[in-house]
Amino acid sequence: MALGRRLAAELEAPALVLLYGELGTGKTTLVKGIVSGLGVANEAEVTSPSFVFVHAYHNHRRVYHVDLYRIEQAAELETLGLDDLLAEQAVVLVEWAERLRLPALQPALRIHLRALGDEQRGIRVERE
Ligand SMILES: Nc1ncnc2c1ncn2[C@@H]1O[C@H](COP(=O)(O)OP(=O)(O)OP(=O)(O)O)[C@@H](O)[C@H]1O
Ligand SMILES: [Mg+2]
Repeated sequence: MALGRRLAAELEAPALVLLYGELGTGKTTLVKGIVSGLGVANEAEVTSPSFVFVHAYHNHRRVYHVDLYRIEQAAELETLGLDDLLAEQAVVLVEWAERLRLPALQPALRIHLRALGDEQRGIRVERE
């Protein structure tokens, strides 16, 4: 959560944040920190959008939280329109970014998470 808030401070819209990591490695938790750091919602209001793909937070800023866990085909990705979201000068946060088959549309912050134990995570941030 603290790392998410710190990362939020360096995000300038339009911004693409791609989160990579297996089940339960902390992607949604990091998004909670980023969203609360951006000041568009508090962390308790942020839940994983697994069933609808996208949660939108429109406030003084636009933030989209996308979860591709259930995405099945490239066609669904096209209808999702990530590029349209970015064109709105938004911050777009994508869980399960390994499911994106297309090259990133613009420079992205890539965050790789892995479990080191039940209560420990390794988090690597790659800036383009
Ligand atoms: N940095 C962290 N350190 C320790 N535990 C963490 C960390 N981040 C998340 N967790 C714990 O890991 C579990 C899974 O977290 P979370 O739901 O954020 O993962 P996720 O990667 O979004 O999962 P999913 O693959 O289901 O989307 C939760 O119990 C959470 O409290
Ligand atoms: Mg999640």
